[in-house]
Amino acid sequence: MSSADKKVAVVSGGAGGIGAAVVSRLAQADFIPIILDKDEAAGREVLAELGRQEGRGLCIALDATKKSDVQRAFDRVLADYRRVDVLVNLAGGALYAKLIQDFALREWREIIDVNLKSTFLCCQAVFPIMKAQRQGAIINTASNYAVTGSASRTAYSAAKAGIIAFTKSLAAELAPYGVRANVIAPGRTATPRVMGNYDAAGWAAASSQIPMGRTAEPAEIAEGVAFLAGDESLYMTGQTLHVNGGMVMP
Ligand SMILES: NC(=O)c1ccc[n+]([C@@H]2O[C@H](COP(=O)([O-])OP(=O)(O)OC[C@H]3O[C@@H](n4cnc5c(N)ncnc54)[C@H](O)[C@@H]3O)[C@@H](O)[C@H]2O)c1
Repeated sequence: MSSADKKVAVVSGGAGGIGAAVVSRLAQADFIPIILDKDEAAGREVLAELGRQEGRGLCIALDATKKSDVQRAFDRVLADYRRVDVLVNLAGGALYAKLIQDFALREWREIIDVNLKSTFLCCQAVFPIMKAQRQGAIINTASNYAVTGSASRTAYSAAKAGIIAFTKSLAAELAPYGVRANVIAPGRTATPRVMGNYDAAGWAAASSQIPMGRTAEPAEIAEGVAFLAGDESLYMTGQTLHVNGGMVMP
């Protein structure tokens, strides 16, 4: 297969903790990785660490909550690579831990937008490309909190539960076109952003609550994503894959 024929994987939030591991794992599986992220410097660093030269990977800076940014990014990918085989939507996060009465409407919207709206916009933009190919795999990102809820994370839990329901509807809609859509639901994962919310004792305590006695490594979440992206899961669509050390067993 020449470089021009190689499969292309677009990863929104690909510069982040889990994102970098996903980009690395998909590159290992021979995909050309395209990072969409608001942090362009971090995205370029991820590609540099993988030794990716121009043409063998790309980072596009964008705000994934803005339709015009997302459309421009997918137009660029299509112009440069002419295909998108896999889309992974990872841009997101809980952003604030607050009781309901302390949530400003602006903060609520910010959380819903970065998780749910960005997922909608990227799926909408990739669909014409995957439809024309009659093939593609979309992986959206939820969380164990989508299933259990979590005090002080009302907006985040709602957004992630919304992503699961959205993905089921999307899967039903896209199946006739040969396009699959599934969800990865990580449990507590050791990324700098999440670890930054705990001191050492708090992190140890949070880890010990998990049946397997430890948090996930980003690479372990990336394995789940690679499975959903690959032909091993060709007959799976509309499903949620929980990778959480037994934290939640829905
Ligand atoms: N780490 C965990 O414990 C955990 C658990 C469950 C679910 N998740 C989910 O996994 C995903 C990744 O989490 P992470 O821990 O790697 O987070 P992270 O903060 O390290 O990565 C998120 C990435 O998204 C990018 N991003 C944020 N807002 C953006 C926007 N508007 N436009 C473009 N890019 C934007 C950030 O720059 C960052 O690179 C998130 O959706 C998160 O909710 C994480």
